[in-house]
Amino acid sequence: MPVLAIIGAQWGDEGKGKIVDLLAENAHVVARYQGGANAGHEVVVGGESFILHLVPSGILHPGKINIIGNGVVLDPESFEAEVNGLRKRGVKVDGCLFVSDRAHLTLALHKQLDAAREGASEGKKIGSTKRGISPTYMDKAGRVGLRPADLNDADYCKSIIAANLYEKNILFKELYGVKPLSAASVFAEVKRHFAAVKPFLADTTGMIHKFLAQGKNILLEGAQGTLLDIDHGSYPYVTASNATAGGAASGTGLGPTQIGRVIGVCKAYTTRVGEGPFPTEFDAKKSHIVRELGGEYGRTTGRARRCGWLDMVALKHAVMVNGLTELAITKLDVLDTMAEIEICVAYKIGNKTMTRFPASVSELDRAKPVTKKFKGWLSSTKKARSLKQLPTNARTYLKAIEALAGVPVGIVSVGADRTETIFVNKKARDYSF
Ligand code: GDP
Ligand code: IMO
Ligand code: MG
Repeated sequence: MPVLAIIGAQWGDEGKGKIVDLLAENAHVVARYQGGANAGHEVVVGGESFILHLVPSGILHPGKINIIGNGVVLDPESFEAEVNGLRKRGVKVDGCLFVSDRAHLTLALHKQLDAAREGASEGKKIGSTKRGISPTYMDKAGRVGLRPADLNDADYCKSIIAANLYEKNILFKELYGVKPLSAASVFAEVKRHFAAVKPFLADTTGMIHKFLAQGKNILLEGAQGTLLDIDHGSYPYVTASNATAGGAASGTGLGPTQIGRVIGVCKAYTTRVGEGPFPTEFDAKKSHIVRELGGEYGRTTGRARRCGWLDMVALKHAVMVNGLTELAITKLDVLDTMAEIEICVAYKIGNKTMTRFPASVSELDRAKPVTKKFKGWLSSTKKARSLKQLPTNARTYLKAIEALAGVPVGIVSVGADRTETIFVNKKARDYSF
């Protein structure tokens, strides 16, 4: 099946946008399958940077079909701003961008609730992006969400808004001191939003299956990463969707057997934004050095990313729960000036040594990394375009990642630009598998 999924193998920001942009060249369709405007996928083309939040990272290749699938939560306000921003920069969106009529809509009330929950001193601070993601998925699961398909029926919309506000206004008023919302104002907002998304709406599941039947290449773009996955991540410090490969099927309407290859994108080290355990996290000084070398600031919120060594316990978990068939290792160049590099191969928790990623957040919090040390290469990798052009120690490092993870490395990225990439072999960018 010519369907390839790109999945974040860590805590997000692995460089999925760059890899999707590269592989979009040989794709016919690029589809986002979960998450929302919490994502920030940067693509750099000829020194020009594009940051995509909802629009798939295939949009910079003219002539591709870009789909926002049913599993995505769509904030129409953010969508409109992003589409207009792309149009202004000469990127064609009309006629090549489609939004599922089943995607759930993020409204102002979801963003308000996200911010209120994050700000509450009694609540649980997750360090969310405050883009309303968790409240939108809560309403989806709570059966009081709205989807574009519902918006033609005003009476149905009004009944859902009433059911939603029946509970939300109690939370706003009694818990968070936020002014309750009127059903009329929310309905007016929904109507406004409908106008913004209407020209893009489509039965995207049907579209994907039609292209699949024609033998077209389909690329599925994950947002966030495995360790932020609601089921397989470091719960509760996760996002509210399935960022893993299962989500790629449910979030587009493909069957799991129709996905042929699953590429895990993984930095040569690790970063994380927001709260939650991070066993291989550097101390403040080293974190600062790597943050500056790697430009590790969130592309959605601007927050400083926490930095640490590559965590093989976590990566092996990602290999397992996604069925990864290969890895794309990004940001190898960021390690160019390190004399010594470490990979965490196990966790020490109390007097136990674990190689399994723990389900318990308190165990993960207590985990101390057991590391394997590697000599740095202390020279620039940025100009390498084949494995042979990499310094020997960099090749040794990549070989160790392959051996420890148990899956081959197909792509190595040595800079943000499209051109700063090593395809290990022809198969790495091919859809005929
Ligand atoms: P995503 O959310 O997974 O798409 O990743 P982000 O775009 O949030 O963060 C990755 C950042 O690293 C972006 O700013 C990319 O332009 C940049 N980047 C991607 N690959 C490389 C690389 O190999 N080297 C360097 N130095 N930067 C990279
Ligand atoms: P991309 O697609 C990194 C993190 C937030 C927070 C947690 C929950 O660019 O890799 P949410 O707003 O989703 O409820 O926040 O998840 N988070 C991300 N971290 N990259 C992302 O997306 C993220 N999207 C959410 O920082 O810790
Ligand atoms: Mg990002």
